[in-house]
Amino acid sequence: MKRSLTGIKPTGEIHLGNYIGAIKPALDLTKNHDAYYFVANGHALTQAHQKKSLEMSTNGVVATWLALGLDPNKSVLYRQSSIPEIFELSWVLATLSPKGLMNRAHAYKAIVDENKRAERDLDSGVNMGLYTYPILMAADILLLQPDLVPVGRDQIQHIEMARELGLAMKRKHGMSIRLPDASIMEDVAVLPGLDGRKMSKSYGNTIPIFLEKEELKKRINKIKTDSLLPHEPKESATSNVFQLYQVFATADEVNAMKEAFQKGISWGEAKAELFTVMNRTLEEPRESYKEWMSKPKEMKRLLQEGAERVRNEATPFLQNIKNEIGLG
Ligand code: TRP
Repeated sequence: MKRSLTGIKPTGEIHLGNYIGAIKPALDLTKNHDAYYFVANGHALTQAHQKKSLEMSTNGVVATWLALGLDPNKSVLYRQSSIPEIFELSWVLATLSPKGLMNRAHAYKAIVDENKRAERDLDSGVNMGLYTYPILMAADILLLQPDLVPVGRDQIQHIEMARELGLAMKRKHGMSIRLPDASIMEDVAVLPGLDGRKMSKSYGNTIPIFLEKEELKKRINKIKTDSLLPHEPKESATSNVFQLYQVFATADEVNAMKEAFQKGISWGEAKAELFTVMNRTLEEPRESYKEWMSKPKEMKRLLQEGAERVRNEATPFLQNIKNEIGLG
């Protein structure tokens, strides 16, 4: 079986865009892959040092994976911080990484551009962890030698950088290291957010995945629509409400909704229907999430098991690398 590996950085609430665009397709790989899932809590430190909220969101990501169907008996679940080998490998990779490679990272460049625009010091707000974020991510990946790394589009560059650093190891030390492919979820829907732009935390237009029923209803009511009157025909193709509906409804329901748009369904009704199909999908995971969150000890046990499995192979793998490069 081929191996897949992917991580989620525990910062902020997980929303439907994450679920449809990344989590669901990644979990689908369990069927025919030796699948590794982890919480990139070390990466979260680049954004803030807040013990309580970091612990909470780390558990939140674990509970989310589990609530959405991750089966710890069929795949491996762990926290990045439980695997010291990742951080050790990260240092080795840093010494093989040209500084210019990091200068080209989109996330770093975006901050520099924003600083330029605001006429601030160009590196204002950039810590070294953020600057070398792609190196730590390369270590996450290369340490476990996956064939495939399922990620959203915004992460393609990071995977390319991981390949580049793996290649540097190969060239420098003649080591056999597997260079992973990014598995970009091409045919996965890009969900529109409340304002019609891509659903994204940075636009503040998200629908968090585990909102309580009433909150979910309220959030759906905030989806922007045009000002056509209730009985007027509406175009489904360009409607955010319809696009979201499509993702959660059955084929028959989608056809019926298309017709209802032509006939002139009111926005209020269309949103009520959207709530029905969304809530139908999310109800069970929502309860399961709450249940997992009330069992932190159980989650900890699962994470320890996962970490043990990872370290059983990571420790000799890293030792081998150290031997090769003269740190053995
Ligand atoms: N950078 C990824 C994100 O923000 C999270 C991540 C960290 C990751 N390490 C990884 C994803 C390794 C895949 C593989 O979404």
